[in-house]
Amino acid sequence: MTSANTPHAFWLAGREATGDRTLDVTSPWDGRTVAQVSVPAAAQTEEAVAAAAAVAAEFAATPAHVRAAALDHVGARLAERAEEIARLISAENGKPLKWARGEVGRCRSVFRWAADEARRFNSGTAQRLDTDAGGEGRLALTRRVPRGPVLGIAPFNFPLNLCAHKVAPAIAVGAPIVLKPAPATPLSALFLGELLAETDLPAGSWSVLTVPNDEMPGLVQDERLPIISFTGSAPVGWSILDSVPRKRVTLELGGNGAALVLGDYSSDADLDHAAQRIATFSNYQGGQSCISVQRAVVDASVYDRFLPRLIEAVNAQVTGDPSDPATDVGPLVSEDAARRVESWVDEAAAAGAKILAGGTRDGASYAPTVLENVPPDTRLGCEEVFGPVMSVIRAEDEQHAYRIANDSVYGLQAGVFTRDVQAAFRAHRALEVGGVIIGDVPSYRADQMPYGGVKQSGVGREGVQFAMEDYTYERVMVLTGLEL
Ligand code: SIN
Repeated sequence: MTSANTPHAFWLAGREATGDRTLDVTSPWDGRTVAQVSVPAAAQTEEAVAAAAAVAAEFAATPAHVRAAALDHVGARLAERAEEIARLISAENGKPLKWARGEVGRCRSVFRWAADEARRFNSGTAQRLDTDAGGEGRLALTRRVPRGPVLGIAPFNFPLNLCAHKVAPAIAVGAPIVLKPAPATPLSALFLGELLAETDLPAGSWSVLTVPNDEMPGLVQDERLPIISFTGSAPVGWSILDSVPRKRVTLELGGNGAALVLGDYSSDADLDHAAQRIATFSNYQGGQSCISVQRAVVDASVYDRFLPRLIEAVNAQVTGDPSDPATDVGPLVSEDAARRVESWVDEAAAAGAKILAGGTRDGASYAPTVLENVPPDTRLGCEEVFGPVMSVIRAEDEQHAYRIANDSVYGLQAGVFTRDVQAAFRAHRALEVGGVIIGDVPSYRADQMPYGGVKQSGVGREGVQFAMEDYTYERVMVLTGLEL
């Protein structure tokens, strides 16, 4: 890695490189410069894309054990250097250390799953074709082949693990990847590059390029990158898809996650548990997760007993320095982000919402906040706040709770606190989302399960195996003249 006094290199076709410009990575907590990072010149970006295209056939043909060993290596090194990378995530993103440590653990799991899947992948399926006279003696073998090099565009909120979700499946299928981290948080991605550089993966099969956002349209349009995997804001994501409708584009966009507390979830212990989980996952990493709880939809029969518990649990969140292991809620990614959240809360309050907890800002930090009676036509009522802010909504009954949850342009995940198995199936049928979490918050995600949304929340699915499917297509081979 580059020495402390020189800008961090980026990774161009598997090797370190520096460009003619730099960007500063600043701590959202105290504003200090965490690092300077070199930015590629246009010719270097072109070199990385050309290298990815040139190595595509060779990489697709790499034996499974080579790809799996590389993935295992990265997982093992993440385990060895876990604390170092957790502190890096925390420094560049402002994420409390406890959540950063969790992110590193999840990233190891992504690489472990990818290594396992790489070993399983592409054994193929056989289908007899002699079911019709014209197919006598014929057999169809179907195997998957990479669509080509991947352009992965990652966001700031999980600066390591959402890069892993783009990189690991690409390596698992043998598709080259050009990864572009968020400008605010490139250090975790560059660290991942350091671990990838220790492997025997072919040069050109991966690059980590700190390309500025305004220079991305050229990469998005580049026909040598036929797959785009984007995680980020809905407007940017949809504009990418609109600009390249013939590419394979996966979009993981926003949400305004609802946690539903149904009437049967009514014992004191149940309500304490739901309140604790909802308070935690409305505020984890400052609410900067697409599946954080933005709306608590609570059955009228338990509402009055639930609300004080929720407010107490929210007020008990420990705010402050993200490097302190005791901190639950740190700053947002920038003061601008906190100011935007403040303006949305103020707008809702001016339109009649009642602030029950929080509602204050200090620099880049916004206090864990709870509101009631948020008008649905305010930004807080209908858009993704991406901050530690939740509205509580009373539902008359179970069906009303589903209608409220579905009354959103987004549909990523929902959580349903119930012990009634029939209600669980009703919720799964009724809720227009990509994932329904029974007995917990919408924020639960296991990295191997399909993850993605409907409506404005995106298209396609991540989750190691599902991204591998997305990065590949089925190619059939018909064998003729066989004695079947
Ligand atoms: C996201 O914010 O979309 C990712 C959530 C997660 O991976 O837990």
